[in-house]
Amino acid sequence: MYNANENYLKLPGSYLFSTIAKKVAAYTEANPNEQVIRLGIGDVTQPLTKPVIDALHAAVDEMGTAANFHGYAPDLGYSFLREKIAAQDFAARGCKIDADEIFVSDGAKSDSANIQELFDENTKIAVCDPVYPVYVDSNVMAGRTGSYDPETGYWSNVIYMPCTAENGFVAELPKEVPGLIYLCFPNNPTGAAITKPELQKWVDYANENECVIIYDAAYEAYISEEDVPHSIYECDGARTCAIEIRSFSKNAGFTGLRLGYTVVPKDLKKGAASLHDMWARRHGTKYNGAPYIVQKAGEACYSEEGQASIRGLVAHYMKNAAAIRDGLRDMGYTVYGGTNSPYIWLKTPNNMTSWDFFDYLLENAHVVGTPGSGFGPNGEGYFRLTAFGTYENSLAALERIRNL
Ligand code: MLT
Repeated sequence: MYNANENYLKLPGSYLFSTIAKKVAAYTEANPNEQVIRLGIGDVTQPLTKPVIDALHAAVDEMGTAANFHGYAPDLGYSFLREKIAAQDFAARGCKIDADEIFVSDGAKSDSANIQELFDENTKIAVCDPVYPVYVDSNVMAGRTGSYDPETGYWSNVIYMPCTAENGFVAELPKEVPGLIYLCFPNNPTGAAITKPELQKWVDYANENECVIIYDAAYEAYISEEDVPHSIYECDGARTCAIEIRSFSKNAGFTGLRLGYTVVPKDLKKGAASLHDMWARRHGTKYNGAPYIVQKAGEACYSEEGQASIRGLVAHYMKNAAAIRDGLRDMGYTVYGGTNSPYIWLKTPNNMTSWDFFDYLLENAHVVGTPGSGFGPNGEGYFRLTAFGTYENSLAALERIRNL
């Protein structure tokens, strides 16, 4: 006899982006002649860049020769990639992160879902509200979140940190002390960024209260303002309290290729438990490493040409972001984000609920976005558009919204 992990049954409905995909599929089936513009899920649309394609081709050719064939990758990642990450993403910004503190993976989503395995079942998590749903759902699956109240949309054993227009969508330090704090900056979904002094307060709080911060920096490449840190390790003391998660999806367009990494410093210790050694043990047991050809593609992102091509991709999407942000503002919408982030977070008009606005936009403008309430109760009354479409589609979507 087996028992299913009934924590899964506690999860409400399907994953946010699956729900949206199903709704859009039903709409397009019923309206096959409508050209729907998708600015919902944060999936990139620009092709992979030349340095990446060249590296992929070369690596594929290597794999076809006995002399250069690669079997299982080292489970923590090839050193040719980890060393470039340590040098260019961290040392170049004054952060002391060694190559062997970097764990290469198949992306930030799986790392942000799996990292909770390092903490016991009584560890209480604190999340921003609204929040990227993976942080909460993965803890629900692990049985850490208590019971769900459909009235409030909250789990009984989770500390919620409201992010509202009043606090600039940057949460205040929680009054009840959690074990784990999830932070994402630049933020998904609100597009808010945090300044270095503000982030330092979180690091100090975590060190004083023996918390660990899971810092999701997947959108780091979109930072345009000077006082915004690119890594939590720019803050003093972060090595003893923070794990940072990064992605190649949003900067280099690897959403279909899959590559990311997580930094677990060796200074993160609780008694005899070294989180670094535990994460290494987990990788060794559960993961056989990102594919060689994909890690070679990742390495190509660190060449001069690769860096320039990433800047080109980011500039393309940020041009969309500026057009959407300014265009909506001109139409009278209240708009946030789009400056250090590819996400535009807008107040729904006429106090519509997020899902009502989703339906209204889909049916009347044939534009898909993401309802803010899908990210948490404080997202109600908001709506997220991504800048990851093409420039033409971003302008066309704006025009359709203007004509509503
Ligand atoms: C989003 O739309 O929030 C992102 O695409 C989610 C993700 O990267 O997994």
